[in-house]
Amino acid sequence: MGSIEIIDGDITTLEVDAIVNAANNGLRGGGGVDGAIHRAAGPELLAACVPLGGCATGAAKITPGFKLPARYVIHTVGPIWRGGSAGETSLLASCYRESLRLAEEYELRSIAFPAVSCGVYGFPLDQACGIAYQTISQHLEAGSRIELVYLVCFNQQIRSAYERVAAA
Ligand code: APR
Repeated sequence: MGSIEIIDGDITTLEVDAIVNAANNGLRGGGGVDGAIHRAAGPELLAACVPLGGCATGAAKITPGFKLPARYVIHTVGPIWRGGSAGETSLLASCYRESLRLAEEYELRSIAFPAVSCGVYGFPLDQACGIAYQTISQHLEAGSRIELVYLVCFNQQIRSAYERVAAA
């Protein structure tokens, strides 16, 4: 069964089959990890996103990685935190599920996730990391050809949240 590894670092440096981008509905780039991925991939990434016609919250779409060391970028759009009663939990779980579904479809073996929705979109860290860890674990336990899932911690707060979840 595939394993989950909590690692520190910048997701744009990882040589994996796919890195996941915490994008917005327009798929036109932005700040945070979205901006970092577009900067590192180069302008071809935006050109590849334009014909995709955007991405719904909770959905995922895939493009090549271009200048990134990763072969592919899976763009997913997390929910904006609005207090927790607007379906945010299920939408965030869907981001992870749909990203993993695409990885299976493309027969990818390694995938790296940032903490989707935990920056600009304001999702409470412990809750978001719990959703991520649980959704990914369930996917791997159900039988998957994915061998390695990295949970990338861009700061100590994210690492602590994932470690609490993994220890629970
Ligand atoms: N590598 C790994 N993780 C990163 C990196 C990076 N280079 N840069 C930022 N992060 C982390 C942040 O610390 C945060 O934990 O990614 C997580 C997600 O934060 P955001 O990038 O702000 O994404 P999100 O909260 O999902 O908001 C998405 O922000 O940047 C815009 O265009 C994006 O509109 C979209 C919105």
